[in-house]
Amino acid sequence: MKYFLDSAKLDEIEEAYETFGIDGITTNPRHVQASGKSIMDAIEGMAKWAEGKKLTDYRRFPISVEINPHLEKADDMIREAKRIASISKNFVIKIPCNPAGITAARALERDGVRTNVTLVFVPTQALLAAKNKALFVSPFVGWKEANGEDTQTYIRQIVDIYRNYAFETEIICASVRSGKQIVDCAVAGAHIATAGLQVYKDSITHPYTRDGLDVFCDAWDKTKQ
Ligand code: E4P
Repeated sequence: MKYFLDSAKLDEIEEAYETFGIDGITTNPRHVQASGKSIMDAIEGMAKWAEGKKLTDYRRFPISVEINPHLEKADDMIREAKRIASISKNFVIKIPCNPAGITAARALERDGVRTNVTLVFVPTQALLAAKNKALFVSPFVGWKEANGEDTQTYIRQIVDIYRNYAFETEIICASVRSGKQIVDCAVAGAHIATAGLQVYKDSITHPYTRDGLDVFCDAWDKTKQ
């Protein structure tokens, strides 16, 4: 399973790439707001960062960036998506999963702009994203679980549906908030998880690992070298 970082902060992106070898980035307006930068500065900064690492395009290292969420018409979404996509070959454009968004995603994919259909909460939304050939679909896990909804069956159903019809769209389990959710998504067979840096850090932290190192250090020090 690939790991994407859900962030627009360059210091977090650098750390996650160098420490954990993340495979891509996802952002949304909330993450950009948290970066303290303007939308253009934040996305151009990420594009430059990828260029600096020689991560040449979305196949090597996809960076999902969201269009203006106020847009309601497919034509407006398409225009905005093309403008953003022209900034970097790494950009995959996040389009909301509603009728205008699906229309826009189909047109964009036909014109060579790669899309990530986002704000997906039920398998039928994921089915339409795949039928219309989006590169990625983003079923939200954390938001659903926070709302007391099932997520394990939901992700398994999306994975099963995609396998049944050999859809090529890759499933990004989004808003992942814990190691347990990473495992649930991996067991279900999702292609990718996207989470914040702290979630990845916590997911490899275990008290026995720390205690074990103390035990081994003690034995090492008491043994002739
Ligand atoms: C990813 O593509 C989504 O933007 C994201 O997972 C939503 O997460 P948030 O709750 O951190 O905004």
